[in-house]
Amino acid sequence: MALDTAKLIKLMNEGLEMEHASHIQYVTQAAITTGPYAEGLIARFEEIASDEAEHAKILRARIAALGGTPTTKVGEIQIHQDSLKAVKINLKYERQTVDFYRKLLNLIPHDEVILSQEHVEELERLVSR
Ligand SMILES: [Fe+2]
Ligand SMILES: [Fe+2]
Repeated sequence: MALDTAKLIKLMNEGLEMEHASHIQYVTQAAITTGPYAEGLIARFEEIASDEAEHAKILRARIAALGGTPTTKVGEIQIHQDSLKAVKINLKYERQTVDFYRKLLNLIPHDEVILSQEHVEELERLVSR
C-alpha cells in the first residue's frame, strides 16, 4: 500500500486531532475525579495524558518533516463525573485510536500502535473489576 504524501499528511493530522482530544480528555478527567480510588486514578490519568501529549509531539514532528502543517484542531472529547463511566469512555476512545493506527500501520511506526494498545489493555483491566 503506497499512499501519496498529501494523503499521508491528512491522515496523520486526523491522528493528531485525536491525540489532542485524548490529552485534554485525560487531564480534565483527572481534575474532576473523586471517590475512593481517586488518588490512583488521577495519577494514572495524568500519566496517560502525558503519553498522549508525547504521541501528539511525535506526530507533529513527522507531519512537519513530510512538509505538512500540523493541525491545531481537537477531536471529540467526552468526560464523565462517574470514574467508571469515564474509564469506559476512555477505553472506547483508545480502541478507536488503535483501529485508526492499525489502518496506518504501514505508514506510521509500530511503537505508536503498541503504546495505545497498552492503554487499551490497562483500561480493560480497570473496567473488568
Ligand atoms: Fe495516543
Ligand atoms: Fe492512548
